[in-house]
Amino acid sequence: ETERTFVMVKPDGVQRGLISEILERFENRGLKIVGAKFMQMDRELAEQHYAEHEGKPFYEGLVDFITSGPVFAMVLDGQDATRQVRRMMGDTDPAEAAPGTIRGDYGLDLGRNVIHGSDHEDEGANEREIDLFFDEDELVEWDKID
Ligand code: CMP
Repeated sequence: ETERTFVMVKPDGVQRGLISEILERFENRGLKIVGAKFMQMDRELAEQHYAEHEGKPFYEGLVDFITSGPVFAMVLDGQDATRQVRRMMGDTDPAEAAPGTIRGDYGLDLGRNVIHGSDHEDEGANEREIDLFFDEDELVEWDKID
């Protein structure tokens, strides 16, 4: 069964011109793009998106960073998509991320780790994040021929 997952190229990834490189990896892997949006997050959206981290020492810096420039948000659809994307992104900390993963190849540090993906261990994270960033009519239903 396929599922949808939320993924976002963070401001550092956009600044460094990594959108196409990252998209290419997901497309090559066979994940289907059903939504995509280039946008500037405002503080309210950032606080909602990172609500689970409120109160943590890195929270303010995280909200500052994610609102510091445009992001590229997308919704990908595929078999086990959330876990596939997590594996392709690599560990949250680029220093721990394996070479060949997105963060392992491009991440600079825990903050500037290029990409965000919904947590596959957090049931409901995908739907919550997709709803936060996309209206239902911004998601496209289409058949990918394998
Ligand atoms: P992300 O997947 O976007 O979810 C929360 C983000 O907080 C995480 O990626 C990191 O970029 C950032 N972050 C900054 N400091 C820390 C930290 N000490 N532990 C975990 N995440 C951190």
